[in-house]
Amino acid sequence: MATDFTEETAADAVIESFAKTPDPRLRELLDSLVRHLHAFVKDTEPTIAEWEQAIEFLTATGQKCDDERQEFILLSDVLGISMLVETINNRTGGATESTVLGPFHVVKSPRRELGDTIDLVGTGTPCVVRGRVLSADGSPLPGAELDVWQANDQGFYDVQQPDVQPRTNGRGLFTADDKGEFWFRTVVPSYYPIPTDGPVGELLAATGRHAFRPAHIHFIVTAPGHRDLTTHIFVAGSEYIESDTVFAVKKSLVVDFNEVTDEVLAQKWNVGQVPFLHADFDIIMQPGS
Ligand SMILES: [Fe+2]
Repeated sequence: MATDFTEETAADAVIESFAKTPDPRLRELLDSLVRHLHAFVKDTEPTIAEWEQAIEFLTATGQKCDDERQEFILLSDVLGISMLVETINNRTGGATESTVLGPFHVVKSPRRELGDTIDLVGTGTPCVVRGRVLSADGSPLPGAELDVWQANDQGFYDVQQPDVQPRTNGRGLFTADDKGEFWFRTVVPSYYPIPTDGPVGELLAATGRHAFRPAHIHFIVTAPGHRDLTTHIFVAGSEYIESDTVFAVKKSLVVDFNEVTDEVLAQKWNVGQVPFLHADFDIIMQPGS
């Protein structure tokens, strides 16, 4: 252990202090964290006031968190870290690509039957989302579970508007049928801003960045013998599709929501009107655990 602190030896001294960490992965993480943090500080040479400001920012980020607000996830999101971790951990090679969980998966979605609507309000443009859940070899995965959640047509999740939207609006837990197919009704979600009334919002304002995410529907898909998949489908043509503030768009997840004017199809899907929109999206699961 070094006894004479110098700028040159500081990182090595701290890393050496962790040398006896029994868990090799923890030691590896701490070694790299210390090396990069020290390099960052030496590169940018923060003033004491700037360092205090950084501590205050992280403190405020933590204090903004509660059961339904996760400011640290937002911070990770706007820095692109959530997507980087997600992508590193899901090098799928042919399976449906993953994207961020986001901060609004905060309640267990209510179980609904195939064909049910997740829209409990009745405003907005009706749409039908359907697809199949398949394994990488193309075989269907009957009984796959799909946890779905989305913002409403105004760009708000139910938990953001407890006095306006019924709880669990825009949420549903579906089970694919014996052909691996799923379908449900909803309204086309709107693009929306991530919450800006906290430290992350201040960061975006200070850097001239907008806070918006393009319109999307979240999915967590699970099937026995396959890796869990956390993803979205993005509404093709949505505003902000090229500049998602959390960097979550992957081209393969952008889906056309096509207009349907056929009343027979409206009856088949139990949609009360034409025109409505229809999105088709097959989900390919990666074998594994
Ligand atoms: Fe979202």
